[in-house]
Amino acid sequence: MKVLLINGSPHKNGCTYTALCEVEKALQENGIETEIFHIGSRPVGGCVACGGCGKTGQCIYQDTVNEVIEKLPQVDGLIFGSPVYYASPNGSMLGFMDRLFYAAKAKMEYKPAAVVTSARRAGTTACLDAMMKYLNFSNMPIVPSVYWNMVHGSKPEDVLKDAEGLQIMRTLGYNMAWMLQCLMAGRESGVPMPKREERVWTNFIQ
Ligand SMILES: Cc1cc2nc3c(=O)[nH]c(=O)nc-3n(C[C@H](O)[C@H](O)[C@H](O)COP(=O)(O)O)c2cc1C
Repeated sequence: MKVLLINGSPHKNGCTYTALCEVEKALQENGIETEIFHIGSRPVGGCVACGGCGKTGQCIYQDTVNEVIEKLPQVDGLIFGSPVYYASPNGSMLGFMDRLFYAAKAKMEYKPAAVVTSARRAGTTACLDAMMKYLNFSNMPIVPSVYWNMVHGSKPEDVLKDAEGLQIMRTLGYNMAWMLQCLMAGRESGVPMPKREERVWTNFIQ
């Protein structure tokens, strides 16, 4: 089983990465294969609502969004990490997640997932809230930890001193491994997937 950990920071080896490494170690300790994927240091654009992905399953813009879409069939769980920018995920990560979920939500359904954030000081819960909405919307079982999934720091060395933040990350990794093992055991013993209803679209409330 494999978990893809997506680093939405422009810093390839910064604070978000340091938090993801702690999750990764806990996953690997429990026999789960991992990959940390960096969305890149250049700005990642947002969705232009062209509908092209509805026809091809890929975004019309060839960048790291499509690289992740190609990896999804081999991935059993996902962790999305972002630094806090003005109490939100950074603009690139928002653009990345808008386009990934619009193009490939169906390929992520029923895969356990979580979000993590890093901040110098504040805005973490608002940032987590924004990121969690993608998972809630996509039938992705949400993996918990012992507190909200945040670390604090301006540089990786700060994060390494955030003992509570690191514990939250490790616990997230242990819990993700456990959920993946439970889901596999369920599948092997014949537990059926949940019933799926035809999607109802009510664009306004009368
Ligand atoms: C444009 C910008 C906005 C930021 N806004 C916030 C903020 O609202 N709250 C905060 O605590 N830190 C803020 N920060 C600091 C980063 O969130 C923090 O340093 C983070 O740990 C960096 O993670 P990284 O090394 O993975 O990029 C901001 C940084 C930048 C560049």
